[in-house]
Amino acid sequence: AAFAQGGEPLGAVSVLAHRGASAYAPEHTFFAYDLAIEQDTDFLECDLQMTSDGVLVCVHDSSVDRTSDGSGDVEQLTLAELRQLDWGSWFATDDAGAAERFAGAQVVPFEEQLDCYTAANARLRFHIETKSPDSLGGAMEEELIRVLGARDLIPAEGPSPQTDPAIVQSFSRQSLEIVKDLEPRLATALLFAAPDQTNVTLVEALTGQLPDVADVMAPNAAWLAAHPLYVDAVHGNGGEVHTWTVDDATQMDRLLAMGVDGLFTNRPDLARERVDAA
Ligand code: G3P
Ligand code: CA
Repeated sequence: AAFAQGGEPLGAVSVLAHRGASAYAPEHTFFAYDLAIEQDTDFLECDLQMTSDGVLVCVHDSSVDRTSDGSGDVEQLTLAELRQLDWGSWFATDDAGAAERFAGAQVVPFEEQLDCYTAANARLRFHIETKSPDSLGGAMEEELIRVLGARDLIPAEGPSPQTDPAIVQSFSRQSLEIVKDLEPRLATALLFAAPDQTNVTLVEALTGQLPDVADVMAPNAAWLAAHPLYVDAVHGNGGEVHTWTVDDATQMDRLLAMGVDGLFTNRPDLARERVDAA
């Protein structure tokens, strides 16, 4: 295969709506997802936690405290208990009516997210993060693969991260190993803030080498900005680069000039504008 060099993405650059359009609406609610789609995102980014009764839900933190009116850890609560909470009122923006508008927002089970959007929008793709999966002994990955398989979201021939409907991302290399063992056709992305020898080694960071478990490398944008040769190095090794989390137009332009293949953003409208202008 021919891989682009010198600041070119491998294909179209993807806008990845980080927790939905979460600059404007409470993260991981249907408000945030609907708005991201209105703003022409390519992907919905989803963080997975597992409830005490084994249901995958779209929640970033291990605890419900920050983004709901409840308290406690998701893994100690049932889905029915999460459904009792208000996931919208905490959100306040400069818009004075925001808290009222979003009051009563519901937790989003991962299967409901997929069922809501796959039927309505065949172009929409999903970038799904296994959050703190290592203590669950593979249960999160198994359930994720079951849920995707039941909806024909695992490609017959994969992985093809430029076109597949779903990419599984994690900071845990072990979690991606489990995914690849169970379902090698699923595309995967390895997240890292900086090389630390557990998820990404210094050698991999310097050479752009992809570990076997990853089709996409997903560095923090601040680290990437300080390592301008990294994108070309990953492209030279046949991988893509998706970077997080970028909400500033100047920073977006700089990363696009490096040739990144995807931008995680809380502001999909701005990312769409900058990608189209690039
Ligand atoms: O998944 C990319 C980015 O979201 C990683 O950080 O903490 O927002 O999940 P976090
Ligand atoms: Ca995430």
